Amino acid sequence: MLDTGLVGRTVLITGSAQGLGAALVRAFHAEGAYVAALDLDDDGNRALAAGLDPDGERILPVRADLRDLTATEAAYRTVHAWRPVDVLVNNAARPLARSLWEITPEEWDEVFAVNLRAAFFLTRSVAADMRERGYGRIVNLASIAGQTPRPTGAAYGTSKAGLIALSRVFAAELAADGITVNTVAPAMIDTPMVRSVGSEALAGLTAQVPLGRIATPEEVARVAVFLASQETFVTGATYDVNGGALMR
Ligand SMILES: NC(=O)c1ccc[n+]([C@@H]2O[C@H](COP(=O)([O-])OP(=O)(O)OC[C@H]3O[C@@H](n4cnc5c(N)ncnc54)[C@H](O)[C@@H]3O)[C@@H](O)[C@H]2O)c1
Repeated sequence: MLDTGLVGRTVLITGSAQGLGAALVRAFHAEGAYVAALDLDDDGNRALAAGLDPDGERILPVRADLRDLTATEAAYRTVHAWRPVDVLVNNAARPLARSLWEITPEEWDEVFAVNLRAAFFLTRSVAADMRERGYGRIVNLASIAGQTPRPTGAAYGTSKAGLIALSRVFAAELAADGITVNTVAPAMIDTPMVRSVGSEALAGLTAQVPLGRIATPEEVARVAVFLASQETFVTGATYDVNGGALMR
């Protein structure tokens, strides 16, 4: 069994209230880590924390809107005052499946504000503190949509391609400080978002996956935990978790 070295480490996860984010909270909590769970959805976040950690010892739910950089920085300071962050997982995203002919400027800006701008500024703040301690693990959740074109992915896919590029820049910049930065690029994960397309559309999408099914959130979370392990020689990498939907 992999010794992740995560016992007693502190992990900040964005977009933690549902879907993959909730699976990430469960996975890191199960590894013995302290988890700061940041989401706009305070009720979902608190319910998750209360279920996993009734005594409130190892999970800190924090509400913040990642579109608001001042509020996000304030939330991060709250987390840092609780415990310095060893691992940052940028998981929150604003999905948008929209024909390029229909995307509005407001939608474009919102997708980029959450998926890329917030990831950049939060990572920079957290990395500044990690540098002082000479240790850090950063994992960014991109998407197959950032690696291969989808007709409805002009904003979402481009933001995820940007996140893959940004991860590599941070990886190169922070390697000398003992900080690794890696990306996970999933395809379809079994989350409410994916289920909402309906069973017929889901069957069509699943048919395009060589492994013949969609991923469980736990399968994707496991890769993030691996990339956040203490002993690692992996940085600047993009891990495809897509059932073979894109082989490169
Ligand atoms: N679900 C998939 O099939 C799939 C596929 C590829 C990549 N991904 C990526 O995996 C990650 C998780 O996906 P998911 O399906 O669990 O997403 P989701 O939409 O189910 O959950 C996203 C979470 O982010 C939070 N969030 C959104 N905007 C926010 C904001 N402005 N401030 C704070 N929190 C905000 C939401 O409240 C929610 O809890 C995302 O980065 C997504 O792009 C998902």
